[in-house]
Amino acid sequence: MIRKAKVRDVLTVQSLINQYAQQNLMLGRSLSELYENIRDFWVFVDPENHKVVGCCALHVCWKKLAEIKSLAVAPKFSSKGIGSALVLKSMDEAKSLGIKDIFVLTFVPKFFRRFGFRQINKNRLPHKIWVECCNCPKFPDCNEIALIKKI
Ligand SMILES: CC(C)(COP(=O)(O)OP(=O)(O)OC[C@H]1O[C@@H](n2cnc3c(N)ncnc32)[C@H](O)[C@@H]1OP(=O)(O)O)[C@@H](O)C(=O)NCCC(=O)NCCS
Repeated sequence: MIRKAKVRDVLTVQSLINQYAQQNLMLGRSLSELYENIRDFWVFVDPENHKVVGCCALHVCWKKLAEIKSLAVAPKFSSKGIGSALVLKSMDEAKSLGIKDIFVLTFVPKFFRRFGFRQINKNRLPHKIWVECCNCPKFPDCNEIALIKKI
């Protein structure tokens, strides 16, 4: 039920993410960003109709450091373990890539604490991640919380 995303999934992935972005629950993603980074994405497919109902990206940022991004599950499918399964899949992938630390910038820190993520000061993350922040409409008044986990 979890597989790597394909280019044909991009529109569905964008609508999953952007419905929450419109409610300020996560950052929106442009089609260009999604096509360029589609190989980062895992998707969860509803076994009944093969529709994509969840997504999560693992983005390698630096030596031994990766970020979990764009985690979203369709509201109809929430609390069925799909979000957790996508996070665990991304963590497995990170491990197999040789990543040692995985971080997330999120408005739902409680969800990530379940997996052993702990809060850190954003300033401790590499400067490279600020490039994306600088291009974000919320910069510099962003209240996303940074959490990190050793894997
Ligand atoms: C957060 C999200 C990915 C969880 O997906 P999910 O498939 O419902 O999660 P799971 O079923 O694996 O886990 C559900 C558990 O997470 C908790 N949870 C779900 N959403 C939560 C939230 N916003 N804040 C804190 N905990 C949350 C639930 O209470 C539930 O706990 P329980 O098992 O003790 O009842 C989903 O609600 C979502 O897409 N939210 C909007 C987008 C978002 O905030 N994404 C994260 C940005 S990085």
